[in-house]
Amino acid sequence: MGTIPRNRTSSELYEEDNLGFGKIFTEHMLTMSYSTSAGGWSEPEIKPVEHLVLHPATMVLHYGQQVFEGLKAFAGRDEDDILLFRPDMNISRFNKSCARLCIPPVDPALFMDRMSELIRKDRDWIPRSPGTSLYVRPTVIATDPFLGVRPSNDYLFYIILSPVGAYYPEGFAPVKILVTDKYVRACPGGIGEAKTGANYAASLFAAEEAHCEGFTQVLWLNAVDRVSVEEVGTMNIFFRIEDEVITPSLGGTVLPGVTRDSVIKLAADMGYKVTERTISMEEVVAAVRKGTLLEMFGSGTAAVVSPVSHFRYQGVDYMVGNGETGEVAGKLFDEITGMQTGARPDPHGWIVNIGAQ
Ligand code: COI
Repeated sequence: MGTIPRNRTSSELYEEDNLGFGKIFTEHMLTMSYSTSAGGWSEPEIKPVEHLVLHPATMVLHYGQQVFEGLKAFAGRDEDDILLFRPDMNISRFNKSCARLCIPPVDPALFMDRMSELIRKDRDWIPRSPGTSLYVRPTVIATDPFLGVRPSNDYLFYIILSPVGAYYPEGFAPVKILVTDKYVRACPGGIGEAKTGANYAASLFAAEEAHCEGFTQVLWLNAVDRVSVEEVGTMNIFFRIEDEVITPSLGGTVLPGVTRDSVIKLAADMGYKVTERTISMEEVVAAVRKGTLLEMFGSGTAAVVSPVSHFRYQGVDYMVGNGETGEVAGKLFDEITGMQTGARPDPHGWIVNIGAQ
């Protein structure tokens, strides 16, 4: 394995205001190998980040057998705090995705323990400016060098860390999205609810078309009826029509987002009526025309709570509300980021402080 020249020698060198997303990596990574012949996972190892050396026939490169997760570590109010937001949900979703992709699970307690150790080791890289965090990317890939189509016998699990700011170039300002009824992301019985690279590969072509037309993201519709809303691909989606906050039901094709689940609970705590149900573009367009679509926003680990100001559907452009961040999205953003950084109370017990050794 070759070593990578460090892209930074010290965490003081980067500008926290200009981090973007996923461009800078910390000094250490965690790795753990699975071997069917050896009967399971090896001991995890934390070491300097290095390139992976893979045979050109390595199965993940051909058939995409892989799973990943995304969660964030935040600096808290006390110097020693390192706060994770609902990491148990990411670990559990990771293992559910693994089951769907025929990948052996990772022991949740070991996952949590060693991931925390890695984050503590690179704790100086956790940015402290508002809107920043240390993004944690656990990944597992199929490593057999073999060209037949079957589940791999061997796997590599690794975790890398990246100091990040806002995911979108717009920062946390409202984004414009293109609703597509031409392409689909996932279909019933497929792998839409698994967090696996193939779902993101499936989104690229439509996303490129959307970017060329001036949109930040694509809103995906149900593959069968092509009218019910599903998700944005990097975020789940919410609508506020009059007093109801609506998000599409999960049903196998939509990613079960950790932030989605948190938004559902927090919006209910705030007294809004929250419904998980089918919502069609006809209903959304009718609500815009009646003036009752007050807000539309996405939720995701990377995107947090991201308001949608405009969307295009079947060639027609619509503005949501007054085109600015709405009341519910604004309150949820403040509440979630406040909890994540320890500035607000955590009534659900979602925050795990891993700062102490
Ligand atoms: C996340 O929100 O963590 C994601 O995984 C979305 C994306 C960056 C792939």
